[in-house]
Amino acid sequence: MIPFTKPIIGQEEIEAVKRVLESGMLAEGNVSRELEKLYAEYTGTKFATVTSNGTTALSTALEAMDIQPGDEVITSPFTFIASANSIAMVGAIPVFVDIKPDSYNIDPDLIEDAITDKTRAIMPVHIFGMPADMKHIMDIADSHDLQVIEDACQAHGAEVDGKKVGALGHVATFSFYATKNMMTGEGGMITTDNEELYDEILMVKNHGRGKQGGYSHFRIGYNNRMMDLVSAIGIEQIKRLPEAVKKRRSIAQEYDDFFAEFESIKPQVEVEGLKSSYHLYVPRLYSDKMNRDEIVTALRNEGVGSRAVYALPCHKQDTYLNIQKWRWSKFVDYPDYSALTLPVSEEIGLRHFDIPVHPLLTNEDKEHIKQAFNKILG
Ligand SMILES: Cc1ncc(COP(=O)(O)O)c(C=O)c1O
Repeated sequence: MIPFTKPIIGQEEIEAVKRVLESGMLAEGNVSRELEKLYAEYTGTKFATVTSNGTTALSTALEAMDIQPGDEVITSPFTFIASANSIAMVGAIPVFVDIKPDSYNIDPDLIEDAITDKTRAIMPVHIFGMPADMKHIMDIADSHDLQVIEDACQAHGAEVDGKKVGALGHVATFSFYATKNMMTGEGGMITTDNEELYDEILMVKNHGRGKQGGYSHFRIGYNNRMMDLVSAIGIEQIKRLPEAVKKRRSIAQEYDDFFAEFESIKPQVEVEGLKSSYHLYVPRLYSDKMNRDEIVTALRNEGVGSRAVYALPCHKQDTYLNIQKWRWSKFVDYPDYSALTLPVSEEIGLRHFDIPVHPLLTNEDKEHIKQAFNKILG
């Protein structure tokens, strides 16, 4: 089976971890500071700080932005559930706004209608590495005085008009989960240009300690730190990232060209100015011959790793259908998510599937994948 992803772990990563082990200093410290510096440089942001994972990056950022219980945060329903859950974790209300059928990202034209006097922030998700329409979203945010938190957990290295994601909203978050374009097993990063917010983020992620550390505490905070042991892997991974993104983009281009011949397959569309980092390559199926689940099974039978990751968009997950069970429901009026219909997300949920796009794919792998489609749909 050609796996849907394959991490690149070389001798460099092994040596880097060994050095930290030998130093005896495993927790967050100088190695993490080095990774933060490299990450801020890479994204073109003033400040970056590591977190234990992408979910804690999101919840830390939301809490540092002073998103309060009962506040509304607009986001996409077509995402990994951590985007929405991070909003619910701080007691805020995820307000799901439908997506565009070609980018699978939040539809800015629908955002304005979802804004109420409780709306505090917008959380666009750059899904599968494809940047959301940030120019439009920032304009809306500016005109309503809203904060924008980019969920860039899947989009390391993606760009809008030559600017990296992570530098486009007021704050942004990344995941270094084992399958991501840049990975450390578990891990995360927050980027921002706002020094005041950065200072607050440092306190939220580290028990309310100030920058000077030690045992003076200034607010309730958590332990959302990342270990130097894993940051060491991150330093080696960020060196590989530009080349890995280039490779992913060239494979995606090859697939786009190949699928141009297929009436029934429509790839995710990269409009002018956007550069996806192709964390995943996710086309959708429009066929009379078979449905999406059948093509996933057929691809797997042909040895091609394929999945349908968001067959159930967030508002259709039991988590949100049973939101009254969540602890904050005692204090916060959540909407009845079961009454919510978001037709585009639901339809893309039924049509999308992924195929391998990772940089370790060989020419033989790509040929094998193309032959599988010729056999299944030809
Ligand atoms: C869009 C999105 N947001 C948030 C997260 C959460 O990141 P983590 O798994 O590192 O907590 C992920 C991880 O898959 C993600 O894909």
